Amino acid sequence: QVDQREFLSNGEMISWTGQVNEVFSPICVKTKDGLKRKRIGSFPVCTEKESMEALEAAVKAYDNGRGEWPTMSVADRITCVENFTQKMIAKKDIVVKLIMWEIGKSYADSVKEFDRTVEYIYATIDALKDIDRDSSRFQIEQGIIAQIRRSPLGVVLCMGPFNYPLNETFTTLIPALIMGNTMLFKPPKHGTLLHYPLLEAFKTSFPKGVVNTIYGRGNKIVPSLMQSGKINVLTLIGSSRVADELKKLHPKVNRLRAILGLDAKNAAIITKDADLNLAVSETVLGSLSFNGQRCTALKIIYVHRSLAQEFLKRLSAEVAKLKYGMPWEKGVSLTPLPEVNKPAYLTECIEDAKAYGAKVINENGGQVAESFFYPAIVYPVNSQMKLYREEQFGPVIPVVPFDDLEEPIEYLIGSSHGQQVSIFSNNAAVVSSLIDPLVNQVSRVNINCQCQRGPDTFPFTGRKDSAEGTLSVVDALRSFSIRSLVAAKFTEENKK
Ligand code: G3H
Repeated sequence: QVDQREFLSNGEMISWTGQVNEVFSPICVKTKDGLKRKRIGSFPVCTEKESMEALEAAVKAYDNGRGEWPTMSVADRITCVENFTQKMIAKKDIVVKLIMWEIGKSYADSVKEFDRTVEYIYATIDALKDIDRDSSRFQIEQGIIAQIRRSPLGVVLCMGPFNYPLNETFTTLIPALIMGNTMLFKPPKHGTLLHYPLLEAFKTSFPKGVVNTIYGRGNKIVPSLMQSGKINVLTLIGSSRVADELKKLHPKVNRLRAILGLDAKNAAIITKDADLNLAVSETVLGSLSFNGQRCTALKIIYVHRSLAQEFLKRLSAEVAKLKYGMPWEKGVSLTPLPEVNKPAYLTECIEDAKAYGAKVINENGGQVAESFFYPAIVYPVNSQMKLYREEQFGPVIPVVPFDDLEEPIEYLIGSSHGQQVSIFSNNAAVVSSLIDPLVNQVSRVNINCQCQRGPDTFPFTGRKDSAEGTLSVVDALRSFSIRSLVAAKFTEENKK
């Protein structure tokens, strides 16, 4: 039980006596009224006043670029982030436990999320050292000597998603912070408590007002932050609808930098010469890791009609082997879903597909028990169905048969999403012919492997409605800063 009664604003842990949000785990326990989601704590619901005060603290700490943090040397900022990371590592056990209980992620994946985040922070530090070394070099051209630096942008509003509440939040927060920006940070509703053990580390590792947290309902507190015009960078991993609505509220939207990771509907294309076993195992991983609740998940599978029946048979057999259970159970793959309405939504998508002629082809597919949803393989999916268009973000695998490779290419061209695609083929000529058309539709083409973000040092972005800006280490450091020059006429004197 974590009943959080504090938030971090202006370098102080503010005691909270106002309204709170009760947190219920996706994990159900027996009660006198049957199985119910277990209450695991509560957190403050900040009012507009508190969130505006937190914003003012970030504005003051930035002080139009004159604050202690934006003017601090890169080496000293790195030391602060290293100190923070050491304190964070000391909290690993409790944070991992809270990831499991708040969002139902398996123990192995929760540990992976934590470790990966720590690795990302150290990779960011290394990358910044390289950038800083470059900044200490001078460039001389046409009689001008110049030092090219990277300078911060101002106040960053950072909002992470529920599926990677630690990793996806910190892969924006840390680069933004280390580049000298000041932060206003709102954790996701499912995934707030796990940040609580880290607040003290933020408080003691950074100057006053550099990191400020706000909690509660985004639609109540975030609009006024945007309307204030004092947010210089919006970073959000979430839906394109929310991102568009928030951006519109900013009075100088053209001056707002947005670093966004948004909706995606990644496709797999299994050609007639694919290694079917490989395609099946990667489809299972790609579609069902963390119950399909990944922006990078495979959310629609195109399979050549000549392989479709065999593919479905092997896919069903592999899905049947997956173990479902509680996050702490050994070898578990399928765990409870945190979003209360998700099973109903997935059921609605399946019913809609059935109404247009598709079937659930695996045993128990689509069954709901408490907060579990048993994976459903739906076939044949066509353009009339929700599962063809919508990002289901859950354990449903829509499968579309195709005759001509033009069909999946047309799908990707017509889609508003543009994150990634996976091609499964053992025919090098076919693969080569697909790369160019596809790389102009999505930001990553995977060959004979599932879609994924990692390694986290690789650029991570998307086309169309799937992203704005680029993340992952060097790209994120660039995204949260601006190149600036210190230039002078070149003379023998300043050469020294
Ligand atoms: O939800 C989006 C995550 O960044 C996906 O990361 O591909 O490593 O699961 P992943």
